[in-house]
Amino acid sequence: MKSVDQTYTVTIEKIVFGGWGLGRIDNKVCFVPFVLPDEEVKVCITEEKNDYSYARSVGIVKPSGARVQAPCKYYQECGGCHYQHLSYPDQLTLKTQQVKDVIRRIYGSVDFPIYDTIPSDDPFYYRNDVKLTRNSQRLNFRYGFIGTDHVSVVPVDECMIVSRKINQEIMSLPRDKSKHAKKLTIKSDLSEHVSYWPGSSAVLHSKINDKKVYYDGRIFFQANQNILEKIIRHILSMNIYSKEDSCFFDLYGGVGVFSVMMSDRFEKGILVEENRKATRYFEKAVKDNELEADSFRIYRNRVEDVFGWVFDKEHKKNNVVFLDPPRMGLDEKLVSEISKRREHIQHVLYLSCNPSTLARDLKRFESDAAWHVKGVWPFDMFPQTKHIECLAWLTKS
Ligand SMILES: C[S@@+](CC[C@H](N)C(=O)[O-])C[C@H]1O[C@@H](n2cnc3c(N)ncnc32)[C@H](O)[C@@H]1O
Repeated sequence: MKSVDQTYTVTIEKIVFGGWGLGRIDNKVCFVPFVLPDEEVKVCITEEKNDYSYARSVGIVKPSGARVQAPCKYYQECGGCHYQHLSYPDQLTLKTQQVKDVIRRIYGSVDFPIYDTIPSDDPFYYRNDVKLTRNSQRLNFRYGFIGTDHVSVVPVDECMIVSRKINQEIMSLPRDKSKHAKKLTIKSDLSEHVSYWPGSSAVLHSKINDKKVYYDGRIFFQANQNILEKIIRHILSMNIYSKEDSCFFDLYGGVGVFSVMMSDRFEKGILVEENRKATRYFEKAVKDNELEADSFRIYRNRVEDVFGWVFDKEHKKNNVVFLDPPRMGLDEKLVSEISKRREHIQHVLYLSCNPSTLARDLKRFESDAAWHVKGVWPFDMFPQTKHIECLAWLTKS
């Protein structure tokens, strides 16, 4: 048992998914944030587990040649970013390696390509939303981010990964307790409108491929519009569509951004989403883009509860299932409901913000011999942070 708060020197072997540097103390694995491979680091143990420990760096003894000066003044204090001490090209290489490692560890032997991470054109000031927390000091109320200690609030007057418009809003937030809630979400769009929740909840829009989609401060919308556009372009470029007798199942469809963008490629679109407010924005997008309302159906339900009967009722000859679940991935029952209908499903596209649950779900699909993974494309939706978005394409073996 190592003593918490005692100092050790470790050499970092690699950076694992989640942003942790992996080192060893007497052969026991130790995870350290904000370090780089091959660095010799003085660490202090913060938490001891049976098989591994967590530590914080108290000094870099031998820095890596890849280390760069982090540009943000709150870096390592604020818990939002994890890789600002690495150049952007090196972050992309690291993320590709992490996706490969996670998929190999959970899925097993990988017989499909995992491509290089597709970069964000803007590695800074790219996010169109921010979630702030108000500190609880008696005077001088300020908004900020939960710190690396997972407890304290680090007040900020700017954030280098959120849009410049949101930064203006952060600067002008009142410092009076009565004015704003403890938790505050601010979203912006490319027309520089903003929506607060709680608060104005003004309607925002995004224009992609000449089509508009709508959202507000309460509703999920992809955080990085440039990467969203790249994902859409990538999906549209796949040779998997036939307009005739075809159906696009947009599961976890949100405000319907993928349904709207794919509308020219399919005869019919089915959106399943549990959030009613989101589906109302999808209806607005169908109307405002002058899409044929009859060619869409909306099911305001939980995907795992309704997929089977919705598919049986709505499917056509050619069917593509598009999945975009939250971080926890797919319910096992849903994978088996999709697999049961393999005869009618030509392609499954799976967009995931968590490579671990993606790997688990791909393995579940793969254990049904019908499915074969054609490839995985990581997209850097969240530069400077540990997060990675991946698109997987499954087709029939
Ligand atoms: C990652 S977001 C994707 C939304 C949409 N595809 C987009 O790109 O904007 C996941 C969506 O799934 C919805 N959701 C979460 N769990 C669900 C479930 N079990 N059934 C239906 N929808 C769900 C959330 O409300 C959210 O809109």
